[in-house]
This record gives sequence, C-alpha cells and structure tokens, in this order.
Amino acid sequence: MSDNVSLEVVNNIALVTVNEPPVNAINQQMRAGLLEAFKEIDQRDDVAAALLICDGRTFMAGADLNEFDTGVGEPNYREAYAAIENCSKIVVTAMHGTALGGGLEAALSCHYRCAVANARLGLPELSLGIIPGAGGTQRLPRVVGAKAAVEMIFGIAAITAKKALEIGLIDRILDGDLKTEALAYVEELLAADSGVRKTSDMTVDTEGYDDAFISEMKALAGKRMRGQNAPHLLLQAIDDAINLPFEEGIRQEHLTGEEAIVSDEARGLRHVFFAEREIGRIPGLDKAIEALPIKTVGILGSGTMGIGISIAFADAGLDVTIVDPSAEALERGLALIEETYNQSTAKGRISEAQKSERFGRISGAASYDSLSNVDLVIEAVFEDMDLKKKVFAELDGVCKPGAILASNTSTLDINEMAAMTKRPESVIGLHFFSPANIMKLLEIVRTDKTSSEVVVTALKLAKQIRKMGVVVGIGSEFGFVGNRMLTMGYMREADQMLLEGASIEQIDQAIYEFGFPMGPWAMNDMAGVDILNSVLESTGATAANPKPFFNVSRALAALGRAGQKSGSGFYKYEPGDRRPHHDPLVDDIIKQEAAKLNIEPRKIDDDEIQQRCIYALINEGAKLLAEGIVYRAADIDVIWHYGYGFPRYKGGPMFYADLIGVKEIYETICHFQDQFGHYWTPAPLLEILAKDGTGFLEWTPD
Ligand SMILES: NC(=O)c1ccc[n+]([C@@H]2O[C@H](COP(=O)([O-])OP(=O)(O)OC[C@H]3O[C@@H](n4cnc5c(N)ncnc54)[C@H](O)[C@@H]3O)[C@@H](O)[C@H]2O)c1
Repeated sequence: MSDNVSLEVVNNIALVTVNEPPVNAINQQMRAGLLEAFKEIDQRDDVAAALLICDGRTFMAGADLNEFDTGVGEPNYREAYAAIENCSKIVVTAMHGTALGGGLEAALSCHYRCAVANARLGLPELSLGIIPGAGGTQRLPRVVGAKAAVEMIFGIAAITAKKALEIGLIDRILDGDLKTEALAYVEELLAADSGVRKTSDMTVDTEGYDDAFISEMKALAGKRMRGQNAPHLLLQAIDDAINLPFEEGIRQEHLTGEEAIVSDEARGLRHVFFAEREIGRIPGLDKAIEALPIKTVGILGSGTMGIGISIAFADAGLDVTIVDPSAEALERGLALIEETYNQSTAKGRISEAQKSERFGRISGAASYDSLSNVDLVIEAVFEDMDLKKKVFAELDGVCKPGAILASNTSTLDINEMAAMTKRPESVIGLHFFSPANIMKLLEIVRTDKTSSEVVVTALKLAKQIRKMGVVVGIGSEFGFVGNRMLTMGYMREADQMLLEGASIEQIDQAIYEFGFPMGPWAMNDMAGVDILNSVLESTGATAANPKPFFNVSRALAALGRAGQKSGSGFYKYEPGDRRPHHDPLVDDIIKQEAAKLNIEPRKIDDDEIQQRCIYALINEGAKLLAEGIVYRAADIDVIWHYGYGFPRYKGGPMFYADLIGVKEIYETICHFQDQFGHYWTPAPLLEILAKDGTGFLEWTPD
C-alpha cells in the first residue's frame, strides 16, 4: 500500500495495519495507503471483513501538524475516510494507546469500534484553535448524540475506554492481546451476520441538546477559551450535523475547518505547541551527554518558595530534605506543606494514601550536615547576595562531590555564587515561579561555567517534575528573561500610564481584554507590591530603567500597601476576600505623584495601553535575543505563557510581534520615543528585522 500502511488477508479478514512511529501521526502517505487499502478490500471477493489496527505503542494519535502550515496534501482526509466508511465489507477498528483527533475520526468512519481497557479517546482540536475537520463534527454526534459530542470536544481531555463504551462511542472493551481479541470480535460479528453500519446513515440524537445546555457550554468556552473563535465554529458544525444531510454537513465542516486552520488563533496555538517541544533542544549540545541521576534533593529555606519547590519534587517521587536554621520557620513550613496536601485530599485531587506517601517523602532538618548525601540542593533563602554567597561556600564543603548546587534567585548573579565553590561547573540557577508547586515554568539559568551535563540534568529534572524547563543565560540587566521583560518594559509602562491619566482598573481591564488572566496591578497585588519594590531597590538606577520610574508602585510600597496579603495595595480587599475593590486613596496618591513630576493627566485609550505594555515586552525580548540570553524567540514565548499568562492563542510576545509585523512595531516604538522620550529606544535587533522585512521566529544568531 504505502510505507506506513500494510494490507494482509488472513482467512477472509483483511488486516490493515498502520505503522508510523512514534505515534502513528497521520500524513499524506498514510491517507493514500488507507485509501488504496480500502478500495482494494471493497473489490476483493475473498474478503468478508476488514480490521484496522495500529502497530507500536498507540493508535493514530492525531494528524501530523506540520501539514497544517503547508496545506493538506491529496488525498485529503474526507476522501480517505469516505473510502473506509463506504467499503462494502464490514470494517472494524481496535484502538490502543491514544486515539486522538484525526485518529479517532478514522475510527468513527469504521462500522464497529472496540478498544483495550487502558486506551484513551479524544478530539482535542479546540486546544489547537481548530475543529475536528476530518468528519469528526458530523460523525461523532451521529454516534454518541449531540450533547455527549459537544461535552467530549469541549472537554479536550481524552476519555477512558469505559466512558467511551458508556456513551456508545465504542461497542466493546477488549481484554488481552489487541490483535487476537479484535480478530475474534470480527469473527463474532461475521457469525452474527452483522452488516455494514455506516455512521453517515445515522441521525443525530438531540436529547439534552437544548438552549440551557448550549448556554452552559458557551459560558464554559468563555471561561476556558476566552477570546477564541473555534468553540463557536464547533457549535455551528454540530448544528449542521443535526440539520443538514451528511454530505452537506461534511462540505460545510471542510470549509469551516480550513478557515480555522489558517486563523491567527490556530497559528498561535500551534506555535506554542511546537515551541514547548523545542525548548529541550539546546543548540550545540552533544546529544550523547547523559543526565546525572537525581533521586534525593535538599531544599534550603522553608519560606514561600522552599515549600512549593519541596512539594513539586515530592509529588514527582523524589525524597526531599528541607533545611532552615530557624526552627520556627521550618515548623511553619512543614505545617503549610501538610495543609496543602490536606486541601488536595479534601478537593479529591489526591487520595489519603497518596497524601501520606508524598508528605512522607519530605523531612525537615536544622543543619546542612543532613545534605551531605543528596544529589541536588536548591537554595531558596532570602534574596541577599552576601547570604547566598555564604550558603554556597558552606554547601560546597558539606555536599558530596558531583552534587549539583542550584539557586532559586530571581535577580542575583549566580556566577558570583558559583565563584564561592570549588565546583562552579555544578552550579546552576533553577528559577521557579510562585506558587512553585503549581506554576509550570522553570527558568534553567546557565552560568559562565555550568557544565553541559548539569544543563541536561536540569532539563530532564524539569520534565520529571512536570515543568516547562527553558534554558536561559545571565544578562547585563537584572533578572533573567521573564522578570527582566516584566519590569524593564511591561510594568514600567503600566506605572507610567497611571501618572499620565489611565486608571488602575482601565489598565487591568485592557490587559485582561488582550487575553491575560489578569492585569498588571491585580497581579502585582497578588505577588506582593513589596516584592516588586525590593526588586527595584536592589537594581537601583540602570540606563534602561532609571529610578524615576515606578513612582506609584514605590509610593504604595512605602505606605506598607503590600497587596492582598496586607489588605491593600493598588486595590483594597475585605478580610478573607481576594476580590479587588477600588480605593480612592490610591487615586490621590497617583495625583500627587503626577503633580510632583508636572505630568498633566490626559485620556488614554485601551489600544495605547495594550501597545505600550506589549510592545515594551517585545522590545526587551529583542534585546535578550541579541544578547544570546535565550536560544530562540519561541523560548521567550513559552516563558511568557507559562510564567505570566500571556494568552496562548496569541502565541507569546515574539510570535505576536511577527503576526503584527516587526516593521509596524518598530515604527510605533519610534513614535513612542518621540512622544515619551529616549527610554523608548527601539532595540537594535528590532530595527534590523524591520528593515529586512523579516521576523523574530526565523531569526538566528550569526
Ligand atoms: N516569592 C516569590 O515569588 C519568588 C519567586 C521566585 C524566586 N524567588 C526567590 O526565592 C528565594 C526565596 O524567596 P521566598 O519568597 O521563599 O522567601 P521567604 O522569605 O519566604 O523564605 C526564605 C526562608 O529562608 C530561610 N533562611 C534564611 N537563611 C537561611 C539559611 N542560611 N539556610 C537555610 N534557610 C535560610 C528563612 O528562615 C526563610 O524561611 C529568594 O531568592 C527569592 O528571590 C521568590
């Protein structure tokens, strides 16, 4: 047939086997192979039935996404799957592993479906900004009814075989060997004279698919996929499945599907999907380098970060020893960890047994001596360079040779800490984000001397604790990548615009409308206004960010308005309630600060707010790229999505820049420079790309 589809006739059953390692992703060749196989089966007199299965660890786990950008080659999905469905012999499929997207749509074209008990089935297309466009929107509702179909597609996560049986998506769960059991099932169907059962001949059961249900789904989409169009296209396609003849519904699905694939939203989501898979590939790193074994971890400091990091490791099955010289802090930290686990059990996220197991992996100690045998230590002590240097010197004396010594600092130069040890090659930054047990981002910070082996180990560890590990360097400004972009651009502009006349609520709303889960001031109140302030104090005046900026933030911090934790910050809060309320006192403070600088308030529109915040990110991102602090623009996008909530469907700041056009961003920044002063200087790389007419994603350092 083709290299990845084979046909073999055993007795009177045609066995069609797909084999495209590692996940049997569907490509042009596979579609051609399937088309040819089922056309042949249709014609052969010696065949009574066909069985479609996959080799390897999974059924077809989806389409080859690379084809989305180049255009789907012939034969297309409709043609190939119509050949399966229109086959005159009964067609059975047996699924194992994960049957996703185009894979499950192939199964829906078969006449009978079965799966092994641990198989998972899903149509995750909405997570990529598209709809199931290979017949899924028309066939799934015919098989399971409109309500269950929408629930499944909106749910995104794959469902179990048991659930699939319950809703009628499969006819049977197989016990034992896939091929043997599936062939026995085919024999059984033949013996019972079961005929061809075409999905397209079925009508859609609309029970429960009423206005109330549709409104509920729209509300869900508004919450989980805010700003995205694909959920609405999906609902339209389901309506078509209900109201139009199959062929017409399929034609319509094709048109809508094609439109969705090339939309900005789908391109952004695809970009993040690929960017996530790219972060582990470090240019110039020898692939033969193996990660060091890490089984035990020491955490220094049982404060906010120490606690979260300990939980992240214990959850992943590693043994953790927390050391804090303050007995009180240690006791409080361990109690908070236990409380976190108690909450997880109360919410049904983990069982009592899991809680005991995980909490049992964490122990506390007062002295560094208990770290003599651990494979890795992460310090999360106060953000104070002298203290950190002392800590590194001490750890170097206590820890076994080869143990990795890591810092969770947000802003300090890890080279200086490494210099305190006799093993600078084993020193690295592991910059977690708060709360560290929840936030998915991990900036892995190379020092000048970190060995490749240690970088590889950190990347593997990140995967193990389910984080997005992005390798970054130490730059000329404070912070690594995320926080540098945050303060050097985004927050600076947000603070300036308060002085110029925008309100706190207006700025937060404009950024929320852009797609972030919250605006800068709600976020700052959550993180702690005092934290931003101490960062500003520690950085002092720099060329790009001289002290006159952040006037409002500093004025509020000076008044002890630390945010949610102190009951007031940019907003005020009622006790026990995290909802922000307007505080007229802050209006007065802003007016006073503006008056001191002779700034006349003016009306600022939402576009300006979005542009100044987002373009400032892009400009700083361009500097980081040119400085070689990140390997590629897509890494910045992953950092901003996972660390700061940049909307996934907008792809991240650098993808967004390319989408808008680097030239346009450059020209707008030049205009900002004229209007607001020299601090708005376009990054040299931005200027180069604008003049070349290229973009960040295709840029590579010379
Ligand atoms: N809080 C955040 O959002 C955040 C985010 C990323 C990184 N960080 C960084 O993480 C580090 C810790 O921050 P935090 O917010 O958890 O601070 P924290 O004040 O909550 O906790 C620090 C803990 O370190 C302990 N400690 C002090 N000296 C110690 C020593 N010599 N040995 C062991 N423990 C010692 C203290 O008793 C305290 O419990 C800082 O470097 C900070 O910049 C913080």
